[in-house]
Amino acid sequence: MCGIVGYIGPREAYPIIIEGLKRLEYRGYDSAGVALFDGTDLKVCKTKGKVVDLENKLPTNITNTGHIGIGHTRWATHGVPNDVNSHPHYSNSGNLVIIHNGIIENYEALKKELIKRGFTFQSDTDTEVLVNLIEDVKNKENVKLGKAVQIALNQVIGAYAIAVFDKTQPKEIVIARLGSPLAVGVGKDEFFIASDASPFLEYTKDAIYLEDEEMAIIRLNRDIKIRKIKDDSLVDPYVQTLKLNLEEIEKGGFDHFMLKEIYEQPRAITDTYRGRLNRQEAIIKMSSVEDNMKKFLNADRIIIVACGTSWHAGLVAEYIFEDLARIPVEVEYASEFRYRNPIITEKDVVIAISQSGETADTLAAIKLAKSKGAFVFGVCNVVGSSIARETDAGAYTHAGPEIGVASTKAFTTQITVLYLIALRLARAKGTISSSDFRHHLLELEMIPKKVEKVLESNEHIKYIADIYKDVHNFLYLGRGYNFPVALEGALKLKEISYIHAEGYPAAEMKHGPIALIDENMPIVVIATKKGHYEKVVSNIQEIKARKGKIIGIVTEGDVDVRELADHVIEVPETLESLSPLLTTIPLQLLSYHIAVLIGKNVDQPRNLAKSVTVE
Ligand code: AGP
Ligand code: GLU
Repeated sequence: MCGIVGYIGPREAYPIIIEGLKRLEYRGYDSAGVALFDGTDLKVCKTKGKVVDLENKLPTNITNTGHIGIGHTRWATHGVPNDVNSHPHYSNSGNLVIIHNGIIENYEALKKELIKRGFTFQSDTDTEVLVNLIEDVKNKENVKLGKAVQIALNQVIGAYAIAVFDKTQPKEIVIARLGSPLAVGVGKDEFFIASDASPFLEYTKDAIYLEDEEMAIIRLNRDIKIRKIKDDSLVDPYVQTLKLNLEEIEKGGFDHFMLKEIYEQPRAITDTYRGRLNRQEAIIKMSSVEDNMKKFLNADRIIIVACGTSWHAGLVAEYIFEDLARIPVEVEYASEFRYRNPIITEKDVVIAISQSGETADTLAAIKLAKSKGAFVFGVCNVVGSSIARETDAGAYTHAGPEIGVASTKAFTTQITVLYLIALRLARAKGTISSSDFRHHLLELEMIPKKVEKVLESNEHIKYIADIYKDVHNFLYLGRGYNFPVALEGALKLKEISYIHAEGYPAAEMKHGPIALIDENMPIVVIATKKGHYEKVVSNIQEIKARKGKIIGIVTEGDVDVRELADHVIEVPETLESLSPLLTTIPLQLLSYHIAVLIGKNVDQPRNLAKSVTVE
């Protein structure tokens, strides 16, 4: 995610663009930049940091900047946040500039080809490859910018929302989208371009939302032409009058960032395996794993260090790595690991998991492990964060900014990255057959659609939440892969509704916690078909006998639990090892609705910070 803003019309472009970028900073920023055309020259200014840092860096005479420009706030995916990697990016000739939201999966192959053809690159980004591909097409085919963009995008694999400007054709901006949003504000003799309507809502409520695989050529004092990228065919513009206010737009029409981020999970999981999972060729491609394959394969064990929800993702990873790759795994609270004088050797691989990449305890655990010679691999969501820089190597989740304090899409994308790594190691060790490997890839690729299916139960889950919103205690039970999900479900409820909740291995009930059960205790039991199902059903019977209220998370079509439970929430069938990606969704929604129903501040719960950078 990031922010794109553009303007073409009779007004000064700069103030519209800079204010528009500020409106989009919630979408993620680690750097910002603008390109402005004053009628004769193209001025580009860009910097690491926030939009205010860009304002401070801009020359003071920028106000008379003319009537056309584009601006960008970056959420880095390829290339750490720094001035050079910030957008806009020039083409080699200096005539074209581009801003981009998304990921160009095949940028490395494209870059190799362009280098052979004499192109040079200043940045590490995938975006700079795209603008030079457009330039290469423009020169070779001797076509205008619009046609060059259309031809170039047909060579691209990945996700993009782009705006491109050519100073040799200074009366137009070309935009295009696939997988990332792009809106056009339609004013009187003026057009606004933005990732969402918040930058232009004060100027016009008339908007055109590009559809996937559409592009548009927007001309000064003229019109907008929308075309299909695939075949260049014209599309009639559909102008709608918006009824959203600014705050609603930032939350994508959702009431809270947390709910928006729960619903973003299909896209976030897709973006996380995008470019890394190739089912047709049956390969997983993660350069940071390939480059350190020997360390992983020769490791005596993998030690996972993390906190909170990230620690729960680590517990899921323990099951995945041991089950698929047969590598011993230990999962440690980073806060405990750093102080208990652990035994660490050079034969250990440490995996540090952190959404923010700034958690103090996790950072300290990493430094301790490195000081004792271990190889440390990071799984972070923020490119260039402290943990990403401290670890020896790593792989990013591509969840986009997670604004809600309660972690949701970070959890499922962390599991996705760890699953890819475990599968890759399993293949390298031969602990999984090629047919099973292919099956796992197929099932993983089907997860986003299956998450969407679970999200359809939202109203049913809200109904259940209303029944139990006033209780004072909850129990969450799961077995195997879903034991960590039970812990995560309990944490979600605790941290946003302030209701006490505990997660347990289902079999652990008889060792004490079952004494807690009576008719006032709701118990969420994860009882998917393949996860020791019969054992869990007998646990449910034990609960039933003590009048506990049972909410079963079951596989679609389940009959047995449905007969025993007070409520069931269905999830589609999948591999047991992938089931946490589905079973966690109802628990996120249940905690969200309970918290909203009892009037809690879901996005900023009391006492909590999004990133715990202190001990
Ligand atoms: C989870 O919902 C909480 N926000 C918290 O437990 C969080 O997971 C923990 O603080 C770790 O944060 P990190 O992933 O940014 O390191
Ligand atoms: N992939 C591009 C980069 O890393 C764009 C990232 C974004 O969406 O901001 O620069």
